[in-house]
Amino acid sequence: MSASCLDLLDHLHGSVSVVGSMNVDYTVVTERLPKPGETVNGGPLTLLPGGKSANQASAAARIGAQVRMFGAVGEDTNADFLLEHLRDAGVDTSHIAAVAGPSGTTVITVDANGENTIVYSAGSNGEVSVDYVQQSSDALVAADVLGLCLESPMETVTACARLCHDAGLKVLLNDSPFVAELPAELIEASDILLVNEHEMAQLLDIAEPDDDDWDGLDWSDVARQMHDFGFNQAIITLGGDGSVVIDGDDIYRIAPVAVEAIDTTGCGDAFMGTVLAGLASGHALADSAQLASYVSAYAATGFGAQASYGTAAQIRERFGAK
Ligand SMILES: Nc1ncnc2c1ncn2[C@@H]1O[C@H](COP(=O)(O)OP(=O)(O)O)[C@@H](O)[C@H]1O
Ligand SMILES: [Mg+2]
Repeated sequence: MSASCLDLLDHLHGSVSVVGSMNVDYTVVTERLPKPGETVNGGPLTLLPGGKSANQASAAARIGAQVRMFGAVGEDTNADFLLEHLRDAGVDTSHIAAVAGPSGTTVITVDANGENTIVYSAGSNGEVSVDYVQQSSDALVAADVLGLCLESPMETVTACARLCHDAGLKVLLNDSPFVAELPAELIEASDILLVNEHEMAQLLDIAEPDDDDWDGLDWSDVARQMHDFGFNQAIITLGGDGSVVIDGDDIYRIAPVAVEAIDTTGCGDAFMGTVLAGLASGHALADSAQLASYVSAYAATGFGAQASYGTAAQIRERFGAK
């Protein structure tokens, strides 16, 4: 794969609406995870901006797309923290609602081996209602592409997909956190599905290959099953092995970009944000995914999710021809 797809970084003028979650991630590193009822000592608490949708919006905005975020923060200091980080990335936050109660949070413990436990408290993310979508509809549809994940109420996600699809936006759905039973209307109103390899296997009831050899899979058969499921276009990310793009009858194997990975948290969201930016700017799905492999590899070289995302200039500098 040539680095010439990095030239797309100069052509990401399109506009993106992202509806969904914003969380503050509270993380403590411990030697080992506590057993039920047990207390262990941990290192210093870190607070980082997260939430899959906020991550996706940040990634798209950092590389140059015009991004508007929709969702709700609570009435607490975490709200300011979340909004400031989004604005810093260049995301338009003016349509985000403020609701009573706490903002979304995630409480994470990570042990010395990198094993973790995660508790998600939806907080204000759970208050993003169909009413809010309807009230925000003019701004929501004033974009080329809509990005959705499943950290918001399903009926809200479905209503967004329907509204934007009918208004002519391309709708990109990230089935994550994974839900096996997607509403028929959501499938119908979404144009493209983005999942990782494990989510794809569960969704289509495909056995995971031995030795993690995803290249041994019959990808034309996966494409057929994906079409039968309701998606003619899909991207399956394969972690450090790159990704596969299904675009109608065409299948593209997108190679990973080799980096010394420090923390792959938020790589999938960086990938999704880049595909949103690429599609919004009129680029093909496979070209957008190829660019996304650079943007997500860059994200693997820094700690955290949003905190590890690069600007177009940083990504060009890191991977551009020397
Ligand atoms: N170690 C890595 N080195 C380079 N790129 C990576 C690495 N891990 C992830 N990526 C990139 O990030 C994308 C998304 O990662 P993946 O783990 O598949 O998503 P998720 O976090 O949703 O499981 C991959 O398709 C790949 O392009
Ligand atoms: Mg993964």
